[in-house]
Amino acid sequence: MQVNYKNPELMLSGAVEPQEVAWQSPSNIAIIKYWGKHGRQLPRNPSISLTLNEAHTKTEITYSEKEESNKQIDLEFYFDGKQNPMFAEKIERFLSSILNIFPFLEQLKLVIHSSNSFPHSAGIASSASAMSALSLCLCSIEQTLFGTLSDETSFLSKASYVSRLGSGSACRSVYPVAAAWGETQTLDDSSNLFAVPCSAHIHPIFKSFHDDILLISKAEKSVSSTAGHGLMDGNVYAASRYHQANARFGALLEAMKVGDLERFGTIAEQEALTLHALMMTSNPAYLLMTANSLQAIRLVQQYRKETGNPLYFTLDAGPNLHLLYPDSVSADVSGFVKEVLQPLCENGDVLCDVVGNGPERYL
Ligand code: PMV
Repeated sequence: MQVNYKNPELMLSGAVEPQEVAWQSPSNIAIIKYWGKHGRQLPRNPSISLTLNEAHTKTEITYSEKEESNKQIDLEFYFDGKQNPMFAEKIERFLSSILNIFPFLEQLKLVIHSSNSFPHSAGIASSASAMSALSLCLCSIEQTLFGTLSDETSFLSKASYVSRLGSGSACRSVYPVAAAWGETQTLDDSSNLFAVPCSAHIHPIFKSFHDDILLISKAEKSVSSTAGHGLMDGNVYAASRYHQANARFGALLEAMKVGDLERFGTIAEQEALTLHALMMTSNPAYLLMTANSLQAIRLVQQYRKETGNPLYFTLDAGPNLHLLYPDSVSADVSGFVKEVLQPLCENGDVLCDVVGNGPERYL
C-alpha cells in the first residue's frame, strides 16, 4: 500500500474545461476513542467508529483553470449558500498544507459550496463529515484530471489519508458501517496514516444499529478537541490510557465480530467515561458533561436494568449522549427517549440517526 502521497507529477500540462464534482459524506461516532495525538495528526492509540447516515456534509466543487499559476490557493467558499470568511480561511489553510499531495490545486480556481444536514449550532462535530467530503472531492478531481485513482481501494485510502490531515477522526468517515484507524496488532492492515474498513469483520446486527443523539447542550465547548488532545501530553494517566485503548480495541472488535451486545455496550460506556475522566484529570482539568448528561446516563442504565433491552450510551468530546441500540428494540427505546430523555435536551432536540453506507458521489 502506497503511503507517501507527495507527488510533484500531478501538475496540469494542458487546458482544463470547467467541471464540477460533489460528494456527500457522513459523520461517525467513535466507540473506542482517539484522544491524544502527535506529529501531523497521528493517533496515540487505535480507534474504531460506526459510520452515521443522517448527519452528513454535502460539498460541491467547481474547478476551472486559473489564469496564472502561482503558489496560492484561489478559493471562493460558501457555507449554506453564503460566503463564510472564517470557514474559507480554514479551508484555504488546509488546501495550502496539502499542495505537495495535490500540486495541481495551485493551477485551479475553486468554488466550493458546502452544507450540513444538521444545524451548525447543534453541538455536533461537523469536522469529520466536512473534511471527508472535501477530501473525497479532491481525490475525484485527481482521478478526473490524471486517472491515477481508478482503483477503489487506493481511492478511499488516499481520501482517508487526506481527511486525517484535515481532522483526525474524519479519516474514519470514508467507509461504510464501521472503520478503524491507528496501528494495532489486532487488525491486519491497520495504520496510523489512514483508516481501514471494518464492515466485513462485524456481525450484521451492527449494520442497522441506531444512534439517537441527545442534544443536552448546543453551546460551544469550553475546551476544543484540539486543545483537549494537546492536554493529553501532560496527563499522568496517558501511558496507561494508550495501553488500555489497545486492549479494549481488541476486545471490542471480538465482541462486534460475534454480535455480543453486552460486551460491546459495556466497552462503549467505559470508553465514554474514560474520555471524560481524561478531561477531568488534565492540567488544567475541565468538565464537558453537564448535570443533564449525568441524569441521562443514570436513566439509560436504569432503563437497561428494568427492561433488559440492550440500550447503551457513548459520548464524544461534549455533553451530548449518543444512544446506541439494535433495531429490534427501536420501538420501545423511541417511547423511552420521548417520554423520559427528551425533556433533558435543549429545546427537546434529539437527532435520530442510524449506521450508514458511507459517502456517496452525486456529481
Ligand atoms: O478528530 P478530532 O480532532 O475532532 O478528535 C475527535 C475526538 C473524539 O471525537 C472525542 C474521539 C474520536 O475518536 O472521534
